[in-house]
Amino acid sequence: MAEELTPETPEETETEEQAIKQRKNGLYPGVSDELAESMKSGWADTELTGLAPIAQADRTAARRAALSARFPGERLVIPAGNLKTRSNDTEYSFRASTEYAYLTGDQTHDGVLVLEPTGTGHEATIYLLPRSNRENGEFWLDGMGELWVGRRHSLTEAEQLLGLPAKDVRELAAALKEATGPVRAVRGHDAGIEAALTDKVTAERDEELRVFLSEARLVKDDFEIAELEKACASTARGFEDVVKVLDKAEATSERYIEGTFFLRARVEGNDVGYGSICAAGPHACTLHWVRNDGAVRSGDLLLLDAGVETTELYTADVTRTLPINGRYTEIQRKIYDAVYEAQEAGIAAVKPGAAYRDFHDAAQRVLAEKLVEWGLVEGPAERVLELGLQRRWTLHGTGHMLGMDVHDCAAARTEAYVDTTLEPGMCLTVEPGLYFQADDLTVPEEYRGIGVRIEDDILVTEDGNRNLSDQLPRRSDEVEAWMAALKG
Ligand code: GLY
Ligand code: MN
Ligand code: MN
Repeated sequence: MAEELTPETPEETETEEQAIKQRKNGLYPGVSDELAESMKSGWADTELTGLAPIAQADRTAARRAALSARFPGERLVIPAGNLKTRSNDTEYSFRASTEYAYLTGDQTHDGVLVLEPTGTGHEATIYLLPRSNRENGEFWLDGMGELWVGRRHSLTEAEQLLGLPAKDVRELAAALKEATGPVRAVRGHDAGIEAALTDKVTAERDEELRVFLSEARLVKDDFEIAELEKACASTARGFEDVVKVLDKAEATSERYIEGTFFLRARVEGNDVGYGSICAAGPHACTLHWVRNDGAVRSGDLLLLDAGVETTELYTADVTRTLPINGRYTEIQRKIYDAVYEAQEAGIAAVKPGAAYRDFHDAAQRVLAEKLVEWGLVEGPAERVLELGLQRRWTLHGTGHMLGMDVHDCAAARTEAYVDTTLEPGMCLTVEPGLYFQADDLTVPEEYRGIGVRIEDDILVTEDGNRNLSDQLPRRSDEVEAWMAALKG
């Protein structure tokens, strides 16, 4: 069994105090001893007591228990990640690592979850930045002081909220360096913690931890499903916002669309779950068009692929391809309706016990048949599918798992994901598309520059599936009626 983490701190504290003194003299040379003394006192005690645990505290405990059972006798280290400097003393907005948020419900930068092996399992401790020290000036002289960045929870408050013992994270790296026994860490989020563990971990063993945490998220619990429902409902409202400004956006740009959706994401959620794809006209044929710097023109289509990420970090991933002036042209409708038919076939194939690949195959078959029917590729459809010829225009897979990450469970093994069968509680996107590049000389001119994708978020249920994003219409005539009603 590994030793308990018992950090040596005096040296660290001294260094920290020296650092603060240096900052004080360097950055704030005008601080008199009298002012420094004054800032130490005269502040009310704001400690919060009797805090109720966060809503998902029992779910995070169950997730940690599953993790503990998989890696008995090993110390497990799961960091939230650090702030990333944008320039000088400004940082990019922070989003906690999925693994850390999944296991703790916390989203604080620099936080680290450690599962310490005990005789029977593990004891979990969360390591966090405590409240700022007022005695040494940290709270107002340090860039991370609460006076600058806002009040943090005290460690005691965090314990009540998260249902976990909490300790000072500034003591953790030194303690990990000293600790003995087998250890695994989730990599890629916290360079300081990784440096402390550098001669104790291996890439292969750490990867096993990452894979386990990815596969653990394949089946969502009730809290997660409710979050995905919220994400989809907010996303639907964001799409409505966009439709309402389309006339205005027409005079401006894809950026206006992006900003409109972003407002909804920030007001109702944490952020967008991925860069919004606001692709007007031929930009729809660029799969990850996030530059969003094009014009929005009447007569073109707008492919909008966007998702709100909730405050608990679950994201929707929805696409609608809308006629900017409210009516599909004949050729746009022909292509749109084919994609709709493919999506219907794909969604129908999502049910418990079905092979994961079934929904992709079902959608691809419809698209291949359409391409043959339109004379764009020589049939029969079986030949097209066998040779993969439809992929010139279908371009991507028909979907993926969805959850805290837009491409969720990405580290799962093939046998646990694409080669598995669907189970209730899995949530996946079904998102077929057809894309005719503007310079594709193999198709008649009228097709060129048209891209259509329809994407919905489908939950596998006990007896089939439920479309979580069905607040938004999909059929071409229903899309037109919905747009007309919103525009008044
Ligand atoms: N928005 C990226 C995707 O649909 O997978
Ligand atoms: Mn998707
Ligand atoms: Mn998408």
